[in-house]
Amino acid sequence: MNRSTATAVVGLQWGDEGKGKVVDLLAASHDVIARYNGGANAGHTVVVEGERYALHLLPSGILSEDKMCVIGNGVVVDPRQLLVEIDALAERGITVDARRLLVSDRAHVVMPYHKEHDAALETALAGAADQGDENLSIGTTRRGIGPTYADKVHRSLAIRMGDLLDEQVLRRRLDIVCAIRGRELEALGVDLPPLDPEALATEYHTLGQRLAPHITDTVYALHDAAAEGRRILFEGANACLLDIDHGTFPYVTSSNCSTLGIPSGTGLPGTVISDVVGIVKAYGTRVGEGPFPTEDLGEAGERIRERGHEYGTTTGRPRRCGWLDLVAVKYSAMVCGCTSLAVMLLDVLSGFESLQLCTAYRLPDGTVSDRFIPDARRLAQVQPVWETMDGWAAEIDGMTTMDALPAEARAYLDRIAGYVGCPVEIASVGPDRKQTIRCTEAATL
Ligand code: GDP
Ligand code: IMO
Ligand code: MG
Repeated sequence: MNRSTATAVVGLQWGDEGKGKVVDLLAASHDVIARYNGGANAGHTVVVEGERYALHLLPSGILSEDKMCVIGNGVVVDPRQLLVEIDALAERGITVDARRLLVSDRAHVVMPYHKEHDAALETALAGAADQGDENLSIGTTRRGIGPTYADKVHRSLAIRMGDLLDEQVLRRRLDIVCAIRGRELEALGVDLPPLDPEALATEYHTLGQRLAPHITDTVYALHDAAAEGRRILFEGANACLLDIDHGTFPYVTSSNCSTLGIPSGTGLPGTVISDVVGIVKAYGTRVGEGPFPTEDLGEAGERIRERGHEYGTTTGRPRRCGWLDLVAVKYSAMVCGCTSLAVMLLDVLSGFESLQLCTAYRLPDGTVSDRFIPDARRLAQVQPVWETMDGWAAEIDGMTTMDALPAEARAYLDRIAGYVGCPVEIASVGPDRKQTIRCTEAATL
């Protein structure tokens, strides 16, 4: 196998760093674009010549006409949502045929009862918190992600994409699953008509038949592509600090969204990856619950939210905003093995007189540490140690070279690269493909 065939794109904060834009850019120099984790909880926005596309399950590479896209075995697939996205692209003149999209037969299926379970549990826990209990709700996207991965790990009641193709198997499985899940949903207080296994089997077999041309063994397909020397681009969904093992547990998602999820989520060994591009938003955002040491609840956070249009692509929720946490970014770059960084949404910071960067944490005992704490309860107790840098007044969204950028903006990028120990190869100054600056002459991206 060619050992240097693959690039990974991964978010280094809590999501929404601008991964979709970078994947779209890098798709041009790759042949295959593969998702390895997550599901429709992701929302990747790509702007191409003024046209805006919001993708949740389809890899962002699908917007580049001649690319093969893969939904790997580590993804959880909501077939209804996938077909909505395929149909929406078709209406806009982008055809997603079986040659362009492969879906793993081993990817697990998000069923309606997973979404109901996700929403019911979140509502119950938020309700308990309102009554004075500890708040155990996570602020999920309610896309059924947790319950689907739970079924995968639990095994017996799981349904995989390949199962949708055999109506008898599906029908028999759903008879049992619906009886058990129905009782669980009732216990959670879900006030919906009982689950109907017959209707579900018919609907999901029909969805499976529509997707059948795409459903295949993607592990062999990816190995074949690598063996032929085709360049593979892995598109991370969610982000390193939401990784089930390495993020701010329990306020995380249910998959390995760091690059460590690539081998298990695609069946390709990590040795195929030669480049790892860490995507960093020039400031901090977070959606849902959980600690966020650099959150700014005042004027600066509000200004970032409005300038950056920081409202969720998937749920429309206002994102929590704050300053850049370099401790967190350096940790994520370490876990993901980043070889370069792309700093996104730099234009949003124009107009601030000064910028704050978190370079260390002050712990409850007064000591100072530059190590991240991937545990929600302990991370909630730290205070950021701030470094202040000069801001810049000029709007930079029309600038296309490093030389054009204000010196303060260049200094900001240098500080990020210096602290993290990784070169910044791309600076993004707007959502469009064109609003991208290659930062070094040696930039390979
Ligand atoms: P993802 O989930 O990491 O793909 O990111 P999202 O798409 O959820 O959120 C990033 C948002 O920022 C999208 O609306 C992008 O169109 C937009 N965006 C990406 N890069 C830039 C940039 O450099 N400047 C501005 N102003 N917007 C950007
Ligand atoms: P992209 O790919 C931002 C967050 C949710 C919630 C937690 C768990 O667009 O960067 P889940 O529905 O996964 O069980 O929710 O994780 N979350 C994201 N936040 N961007 C994402 O994806 C996210 N995917 C999950 O808000 O706090
Ligand atoms: Mg997003």
